[in-house]
Amino acid sequence: MLSRLLQLAAIAGLASSVFAQSCPNGKDIGNGVHVPGNIPANPYEPLQHRLAYAGPTGMTVSWNTFSLIDQPMVWYGLNPGKLDMYASSNDSRTYNTSRTWNNHVKITGLEPGTEYYYRVSGTNGANAAYLPTYKFKTARLAGDDKPLTIATFGDLGLMGRDGLSTRTGPIGGDNYTALGASETNTIRSLLQMKDTYEFLYHTGDIGYADYFLKESVQGYFGTADNETMPTVDEVAEGYESLSEQFFDQMVPITAEKPWMVLAGNHEANCDNGGVTDKKHNITYTSDYCLPAQQNFTWYNKHYNMPSAESGGVSNMWYSFESGPVHFVSLLTETDLGEGLLGPIEKAKGNVNGPFGKPNQQVDWLKADLASVDRQKTPWVVVGLHRPWYTSIQIPEVYTAWQQAFEKIMYDYNVDMYLTGHVHTQEVFTPMFNGTADPNGLNNPRAPWPIVQGAAGHYDGLDQFESSERLNGSIYSTDQAYGWGKLTFHNRTHVTYDYVASRNSSVIQSNTLYKEHSFGGAAGGASSKNKDAKDGGKKAPKVNIRQSIDF
Ligand SMILES: *[C@@H]1O[C@H](CO)[C@@H](O)[C@H](O)[C@H]1NC(C)=O
Ligand SMILES: *[C@@H]1O[C@H](CO)[C@@H](O)[C@H](O)[C@H]1NC(C)=O
Ligand SMILES: *[C@@H]1O[C@H](CO)[C@@H](O)[C@H](O)[C@H]1NC(C)=O
Ligand SMILES: *[C@@H]1O[C@H](CO)[C@@H](O)[C@H](O)[C@H]1NC(C)=O
Ligand SMILES: *[C@@H]1O[C@H](CO)[C@@H](O)[C@H](O)[C@H]1NC(C)=O
Ligand SMILES: *[C@@H]1O[C@H](CO)[C@@H](O)[C@H](O)[C@H]1NC(C)=O
Ligand SMILES: *[C@@H]1O[C@H](CO)[C@@H](O)[C@H](O)[C@H]1NC(C)=O
Ligand SMILES: *[C@@H]1O[C@H](CO)[C@@H](O)[C@H](O)[C@H]1NC(C)=O
Ligand SMILES: *[C@@H]1O[C@H](CO)[C@@H](O)[C@H](O)[C@H]1NC(C)=O
Ligand SMILES: *[C@@H]1O[C@H](CO)[C@@H](O)[C@H](O)[C@H]1NC(C)=O
Ligand SMILES: [Fe+2]
Repeated sequence: MLSRLLQLAAIAGLASSVFAQSCPNGKDIGNGVHVPGNIPANPYEPLQHRLAYAGPTGMTVSWNTFSLIDQPMVWYGLNPGKLDMYASSNDSRTYNTSRTWNNHVKITGLEPGTEYYYRVSGTNGANAAYLPTYKFKTARLAGDDKPLTIATFGDLGLMGRDGLSTRTGPIGGDNYTALGASETNTIRSLLQMKDTYEFLYHTGDIGYADYFLKESVQGYFGTADNETMPTVDEVAEGYESLSEQFFDQMVPITAEKPWMVLAGNHEANCDNGGVTDKKHNITYTSDYCLPAQQNFTWYNKHYNMPSAESGGVSNMWYSFESGPVHFVSLLTETDLGEGLLGPIEKAKGNVNGPFGKPNQQVDWLKADLASVDRQKTPWVVVGLHRPWYTSIQIPEVYTAWQQAFEKIMYDYNVDMYLTGHVHTQEVFTPMFNGTADPNGLNNPRAPWPIVQGAAGHYDGLDQFESSERLNGSIYSTDQAYGWGKLTFHNRTHVTYDYVASRNSSVIQSNTLYKEHSFGGAAGGASSKNKDAKDGGKKAPKVNIRQSIDF
């Protein structure tokens, strides 16, 4: 298998010079420390720990190893000194271009809202890094009305080393991205604030391993001008290396906080949507990706979201609940239904999707929203990668995902939706079909859109072209990396705080009030506005710069 050959080649020092330049491929020396991005001395050393809710009584524990594990195990218990229970699986997954195996164990039969301690197979083995006994907390039962705070953001890539966004970024430049001695990048800010939120909700674009190609073409790995590079194998290797670095950077957080993710365009392929090397007149397309680097393979091997628990499909669409909130994760890239083509499916030579039957995602979305018991979970939050309201002039005026989802969200009284993709922070007033809700944040009928794509990655932040903003925009910044601290205070009030990553200060805050008087015996269906088409009708039509292609 390729990964073994690459690994052996790297260890034996047989790698080409470009190859050696491109990838860290360092090896840990087995002194109890794992250096992010390095290959561990012990191939069973557990790395990249990450958690995902699996209902209120379940938790999926995932981690990677440089060898297959026959029967991945998790030992757990209520007391760190007494891990007297265990769960196992036979789920140690890899794919042809991977250097590692993704191990997944779903623990069931847990108590809701309860803290457990755990260790996975191989922890503190010979020559492996010294690891603490980690802990996690299960999701709270739906209907538990105590306040809930989460951390949420889109578009988070590597920070530092080959991730680069702490130091530079072609757009915005060093002025925005260079950090002072006491300042932090987004991952460090999330780590420092770890005790203030229950879990991470990441609305697509995770790690940006597909930037390896672009970074190579831009000479970031010290490529000599006269070299034509990289080869497909080097892309596969470089991609995996960036991916490993990213998970290694995230692990102090993700070993203890569930990391609920959804797919963005950067999870699809290795080609970053197509990269052109003008110097060498080469255009890299998905043809350049080996089959195992296409069709969201990396994404679906690494994560294990609760689609089984919610009738969804793999990690592509699913829902989950905690306390007063029902969360729904959607896919904007493919599977939009009604004959609409997702942006990636639309591309020539598409190698991605579909993940379900025609209309399966939208039919599932309607059924999922209809089944929500709004007495228990008055709040319904949707996460999906691509926005349709943004003051950035995105090249994609094609917004099939708006056509697919906006009306359904409106009809079923979704409270808010969180996106990314555009690398700015922008909060809109609640709106529907380009029309601002006249109530604003005070008990609106329309859902509340928030674009949260400024967590940071190689390209830095997108820049607004002028001070002009789309009507409906109530806060925007292209100057500060950050993440959202979302607090559901009670059944009627939710606050979205924008936290500046560099100093973990809240630099902007908005509170939404929703009366949430659904009457009746609950259920999304009874809460559904029977007269949806009247909603927002009296609001003034706002002028939107982005053409919406209904
Ligand atoms: C995994 O495979 C082993 C050996 O084939 C078997 O004993 C075990 O029950 C399987 N399932 C789990 C969840 O470990
Ligand atoms: C960035 O900072 C440098 C000096 O540190 C200054 O010359 C340059 O004008 C600044 N650029 C912007 C866009 O502010
Ligand atoms: C590329 O240029 C370097 C000097 O800049 C030279 O040493 C090397 O041989 C060149 N490689 C090729 C393939 O021409
Ligand atoms: C670039 O490559 C294409 C074919 O891939 C070729 O048609 C074109 O002439 C080349 N352009 C230059 C400037 O070499
Ligand atoms: C993986 O590699 C095997 C053996 O080379 C090949 O038969 C298979 O088609 C590959 N699968 C993918 C998804 O790349
Ligand atoms: C992508 O993966 C899905 C799910 O495994 C599969 O149904 C679909 O056919 C794949 N698409 C392509 C183009 O291979
Ligand atoms: C959105 O507004 C346009 C007119 O601006 C209208 O033609 C269209 O039917 C509306 N769409 C929905 C889903 O209400
Ligand atoms: C809900 O929380 C908000 C914000 O903290 C507070 O102002 C309001 O009084 C609370 N409502 C109830 C019914 O407790
Ligand atoms: C924190 O950083 C943000 C973004 O650069 C800045 O606007 C804010 O003034 C800073 N706050 C403090 C307390 O330093
Ligand atoms: C925004 O809406 C207001 C009033 O509805 C209007 O006067 C203004 O011209 C609009 N601005 C833009 C940029 O569309
Ligand atoms: Fe994106």
